[in-house]
Amino acid sequence: MKILPYQPDSSGLAYSVGTTLDRFIKLKQSDFPFASGELSQLLRDIALASKIVNRETNRAGLSNIGGAFGQVNVQGEEQQKLDVIANIRFMRALSKGGEVCAIVSEEEDSVIDLQNSSGKYVVAIDPLDGSSNIDVNISIGTIFSIYRRITPTGSPIQEIDIMQKGSEQVAAGYVLYGSSTMLVYTTGCGVNGFTYEQSLGEFFLSHPDIQAPKTGEIYSVNEGSQNDWETGIDKYISLCKERRYSARYIGSLVADFHRNLLKGGIYLYPATKKNPSGKLRLLYEANALALIAEQAGAMATDGNQRILDIQPTSLHQRTPLLIGSSDMVQEAEAMLKIEDVKSLI
Ligand code: F6P
Repeated sequence: MKILPYQPDSSGLAYSVGTTLDRFIKLKQSDFPFASGELSQLLRDIALASKIVNRETNRAGLSNIGGAFGQVNVQGEEQQKLDVIANIRFMRALSKGGEVCAIVSEEEDSVIDLQNSSGKYVVAIDPLDGSSNIDVNISIGTIFSIYRRITPTGSPIQEIDIMQKGSEQVAAGYVLYGSSTMLVYTTGCGVNGFTYEQSLGEFFLSHPDIQAPKTGEIYSVNEGSQNDWETGIDKYISLCKERRYSARYIGSLVADFHRNLLKGGIYLYPATKKNPSGKLRLLYEANALALIAEQAGAMATDGNQRILDIQPTSLHQRTPLLIGSSDMVQEAEAMLKIEDVKSLI
């Protein structure tokens, strides 16, 4: 009997599909300081739920799941049917997995205690971000943050387990349901992006070690609110225009952030007269994207301080957000601060 060593095919006839998310998570498990396998399983649970949400969003125009659900969430925003469906999907995946003890969701008024006192992790999630874009077939996303609980396993969940600064996240990520579906995540050792291969039902590594450009020529802000901006933001956006930068605003945070992360640019949702604390939520929107931004060499601030340093005081707390290429965020932040000082003189 002849035994030959395996030689990878070099004919070029069958292209390589590459590394699956599952394999990648397993390979990277040892990078994680508490490499027990539970965080890896948790990431897989999130990926599985996102595949189901991807299927639902793809079919939204055909099945009767488009449009409003008829209820208003704790933010005072009208819930879309797909918001509710995505929330159910993620809640189910996270509660069945066994690694999570509590969940904070945009769609739930209170912390959800999974009654699983052996779960080591707390998840904050926006199951479907930018959902007003669903009915018009525009990109939407899921955003998630993962924290280790502070109190010992086996004891009841406490406020300190939930109200952790973004800098305490052990992992964070987003799923972009766009022209292709992508999952991008970090465990604090760089950022990697995976593209969903629909026919195989798998995410494959497509964007290894994402590095954000230091600067860019795209600004993303809702200019309809210009009359309500602080002077610093007004001046920064005027500067972007003088420099002939491109304005790009989808109105889906994940999609706007993702584009700027890859191409270079800044996304701003500043404080306005209508929303003095901004609009975006710290726990399940800003923190996750801030960690990803920093891990990719970009920046995130509320105009005053690093997003990841903000001590949360309430579950659905809002924050102004300036996020993207580091040179651009620094410049915008400096202009805001100068104008703040001027207003005091
Ligand atoms: O989560 C809120 C959100 O839908 C983000 O995805 C998006 O960037 C922003 O609100 C859009 O808000 P506005 O319509 O005020 O520009």
